[in-house]
Amino acid sequence: MQRSQTVQTRTSPANDEALQIRPVRRGDLDQVIAIDATVTGLEKRKYWLSVYRRYGAGGQPGAQFLVALLDGRVVGFIIGEVRDWEFGSPPCGWVFAIDVDPNARLGGVGTRLLQVISDGFRRVGVRKLRTLLARDNTLILSFFRSQGMMAGPLIPLEMELEG
Ligand SMILES: CC(C)(COP(=O)(O)OP(=O)(O)OC[C@H]1O[C@@H](n2cnc3c(N)ncnc32)[C@H](O)[C@@H]1OP(=O)(O)O)[C@@H](O)C(=O)NCCC(=O)NCCS
Repeated sequence: MQRSQTVQTRTSPANDEALQIRPVRRGDLDQVIAIDATVTGLEKRKYWLSVYRRYGAGGQPGAQFLVALLDGRVVGFIIGEVRDWEFGSPPCGWVFAIDVDPNARLGGVGTRLLQVISDGFRRVGVRKLRTLLARDNTLILSFFRSQGMMAGPLIPLEMELEG
């Protein structure tokens, strides 16, 4: 109930020309780091600088690091890349991070970010999109499900490595 009230009182940036999606720039990083810190509770400046070098402008081919701006302010980001023949699969687009500023959620920003990164993958011939998510993160699961994503054929495995 609370959620639909919030939606009704907001304009939808997805249909608003004020929402811009573009590749990240070095000057956006402080805002990206701040959004991540708000969502995860940790400020990881060194990590973000290395992500920027790998996936930002001039990074590896097939990599995309996009930001969403509302009235010139970064309100979200998405990061992904094309992985060729990993896990025995033909090239596919992987999304490995998406975050929207809690104050800008439920207005279509996440949807636009996913659309634009998918367009980028399509342009390089990729026809499948994948992601991994924590089993208990129902928010991100609801979001990806709303975008048409469903359980895929791979299962993650892990074990402890004794030191
Ligand atoms: C998931 C997230 C990216 C969604 O961004 P957003 O801009 O709010 O998404 P949208 O407004 O485009 O929502 C699209 C759809 O997702 C679903 N959805 C989004 N938020 C939801 C919520 N709180 N509860 C249930 N469904 C939700 C809905 O189906 C929604 O469509 P609707 O508004 O027509 O019902 C954002 O909530 C976020 O950043 N969450 C934290 C992400 C995270 O945990 N990242 C770390 C792992 S990568």
